[in-house]
Amino acid sequence: MADWVERDAARVWHGFTQMAAYAANSPVIVERAEGHELVDVDGRRYLDAISSLWVTTLGHRVPELDEALAGQLGRVAHATLLGNGSRVVIELAEALAEVVPVDDPHFLFASDGAPAVEQALKIAFQYWANLGVAGRTRYLALGGAYHGDTVGSLSVGADGFGSDLFGPLRFPVVRAPGYDEPGWSQAAARLVEERTGELAAVVVEPLVQGAAGMHVADPGDFAALQEACSRTGVLLVCDEVATGFGRTGTLFASEQCGLRPDLLCLGKGITGGYLPMSATVASRRVYEAFLGEDLGPRTFYHGHSYGGNALAAAVALRHLELLRERDVLASVRERSRELAELLEERIAPLDAVAEVRLRGLMCGVELVPGDRHGRKVCAAAVARGVLLRPIGDVVIVVPPLTITTPELERIVRVLEAAILEVIPVADLARAR
Ligand SMILES: Cc1ncc(COP(=O)(O)O)c(C=O)c1O
Repeated sequence: MADWVERDAARVWHGFTQMAAYAANSPVIVERAEGHELVDVDGRRYLDAISSLWVTTLGHRVPELDEALAGQLGRVAHATLLGNGSRVVIELAEALAEVVPVDDPHFLFASDGAPAVEQALKIAFQYWANLGVAGRTRYLALGGAYHGDTVGSLSVGADGFGSDLFGPLRFPVVRAPGYDEPGWSQAAARLVEERTGELAAVVVEPLVQGAAGMHVADPGDFAALQEACSRTGVLLVCDEVATGFGRTGTLFASEQCGLRPDLLCLGKGITGGYLPMSATVASRRVYEAFLGEDLGPRTFYHGHSYGGNALAAAVALRHLELLRERDVLASVRERSRELAELLEERIAPLDAVAEVRLRGLMCGVELVPGDRHGRKVCAAAVARGVLLRPIGDVVIVVPPLTITTPELERIVRVLEAAILEVIPVADLARAR
């Protein structure tokens, strides 16, 4: 392992990682995977309790997805969607159109979540320009929001570590409270009403603000905001990059929240965690505002080299079928109930735990503040064969959607042991 870590650190620049400390933090170097487990270069196994950063849905090396990928390799790997079409992408868009909570949808594909958000922001901006309406150029976004790392998505994302430095590049937004503040929805709805004339769109992560540390809302909270958008015509952008494809127990979290977005952002789980693909989904109302003369100014002059990649589309299409065939959503809801009970029993009562937050299979265990508690607890879990990763002092648990009951029990057992090892009760008593 040490040799691989050295070679890795010598040449690879890892995202969200301080490279000066990378090797000392005992990274796992993955060589292969089986089902819900990753196997490192020394043959050690780790239960992937973060779904490779929330993308893996059915586990690794799913035979049906492998087959879909191999089948598409025998046809074509990639053909551009700029001005031409691709059969498997048409089939995927037709299949997605049956299930997304968007009226008469059209799909603009990209490769990662942030570009899907970026596309939505630009579409919302140009929508008003195409209609000849001046001044509606701003976005309303929430406190605690995370929408990606490109400059536009960073702008609608909340302030803080990693964003503030880029302040001079970020455009100003109208900021409403986040899900951790009571009354956020009414406050956001009020801002939409008061500032309608300057707003192009509202951007939200339905139900869970994931990267904020799993701040959760109740499904009923969203009615006021949806009503305000419907009444004022301000476009509603739902960023379901993290919550989409079954993660919260419905195919899309918007369904539970009673939201009908004008623009929907998809990514992460769309290919079951196999290949980079994302999409911005536009409702008929939005899409039609872009229709006009050939080469004219109403056109959306935007598109990425690998948007609508054929290999990714073939996997995404088969993945959507598998979610239905295997009744994965029912399983997510059942496992979520089990996880809630396990956390309530074993984790929430611990002195070192400030709060446990869960929706579907998106969970955040907030530890009491301390010296890199999140980092240390996750390292202790990894040493016990369960791969976890924190966001600050919040331990994030986002297992594959097909996780089993014994595997959930293992995750919680390991998390409990890791917390007790890293933050002994005596230390807490001293700190008080
Ligand atoms: C809600 C949300 N939007 C956008 C993104 C950015 O996606 P990507 O990392 O694929 O660019 C993320 C990533 O965590 C996310 O959680």
